[in-house]
Amino acid sequence: MVIYVSGDLGAGKTTLARGLLRGLGYTGRVKSPTFTLVELYKLSRLYLYHFDFYRFKDPRELGEAGFREYFNRDSVCLVEWPERAAAGLPPADVRIVMRVAGSGRDVEIFAETEVGRRCLDRIEL
Ligand SMILES: Nc1ncnc2c1ncn2[C@@H]1O[C@H](COP(=O)(O)OP(=O)(O)OP(=O)(O)O)[C@@H](O)[C@H]1O
Ligand SMILES: [Mg+2]
Repeated sequence: MVIYVSGDLGAGKTTLARGLLRGLGYTGRVKSPTFTLVELYKLSRLYLYHFDFYRFKDPRELGEAGFREYFNRDSVCLVEWPERAAAGLPPADVRIVMRVAGSGRDVEIFAETEVGRRCLDRIEL
């Protein structure tokens, strides 16, 4: 499953990823992958890869860095700044767009595939 999280610097993308991991029961530290490009979380039932492509320059690096193999049937890939990796990335199942709104955040969530739609159907708001 592939989740894109878009929004300006400071829109709350990493905070949302942290909340998702907490919701999945991960209690360790969740740091921004700004410098490492990716952080791996091994949860009981899945691998979650948290990417941040803000510093990414050339989409061709994606293959060279071996990141493409992280996108597989057994993983959830949450991607900040997907626009920077552009055509190099598999398409999103779920696309999230975040905006600063006063002291809070507006969040739009779009299902882009059947898998994404099934996921959103189960979110309780
Ligand atoms: N829903 C929210 N409500 C209020 N403040 C928030 C919310 N989400 C994040 N913030 C605050 O906004 C700041 C930036 O958050 P965060 O690092 O998650 O942004 P980001 O979108 O990941 O930025 P970047 O593009 O630099 O990676 C932090 O100080 C965080 O505490
Ligand atoms: Mg971030």
